[in-house]
Amino acid sequence: MEVIIAKDYETLSRQAATIIAAQVIGQPDSVLGLATGSTPVGTYKHLVALYREGIIDFSRVKTFNLDEYYGVAPDNPCSYRWFMEENLFKHINILPENTYIPNGLAQDTAAECREYEEKIHRAGGIDLQLLGIGGNGHIGFNEPGNSFQPATHLVDLDQQTIEANSRFFASPDQVPRQALSMGIKSIMAARRIILLANGKAKARAVYEMIRGPITPELPASVLQLHPQAAVIIDQEAAALL
Ligand code: PGA
Repeated sequence: MEVIIAKDYETLSRQAATIIAAQVIGQPDSVLGLATGSTPVGTYKHLVALYREGIIDFSRVKTFNLDEYYGVAPDNPCSYRWFMEENLFKHINILPENTYIPNGLAQDTAAECREYEEKIHRAGGIDLQLLGIGGNGHIGFNEPGNSFQPATHLVDLDQQTIEANSRFFASPDQVPRQALSMGIKSIMAARRIILLANGKAKARAVYEMIRGPITPELPASVLQLHPQAAVIIDQEAAALL
């Protein structure tokens, strides 16, 4: 696992955007795995700027997002579909039909999860997966537990995740209790992974991910086994290393 310590959030975001841009320039039909949350917002801003400067073309790119809240409609401003439209998709020339996010309104969640995996497979697999990390060490919504969940699945969100994400909702009661999330195998199958973390609230999880044992109690620790994983963190997130 390569560890890159950036001076600050701005530098971290620029570095991540540069890696994604290089991927898309080198392979214009790249399949990108994307993440939501506060962490990648700066990266998406830089990608939009690179697109506006004519440096990257998304017309042949496909994207698969890690997760979506269960029971939340795509036109709900709290949905991850909405987040992606606002922060990236509507600002670039990606084709709407090439942007995939699990359907939070699926009646048959098992079928939705299975089909999501099939869509990733049919697209040729993920070339570059972008990740954040939860304060509890989750990646996607793979919460700490007794085993690594392999494929896309319906998850019960951890109390810590509900509290952390309540800042995006009017009150903690309104945070969905479940989500559809790519699994650990889905993430590990990506050819290349970059995980971003900033701020001191992530320092403990970052330390455990890099220096701790590989355990489903800290799901991000599995990335130690990935042959092409880079972690880009700011100095606060690196404080315990
Ligand atoms: P954050 O979330 O970027 O909003 O901190 C990251 C995560 O929970 O994976």
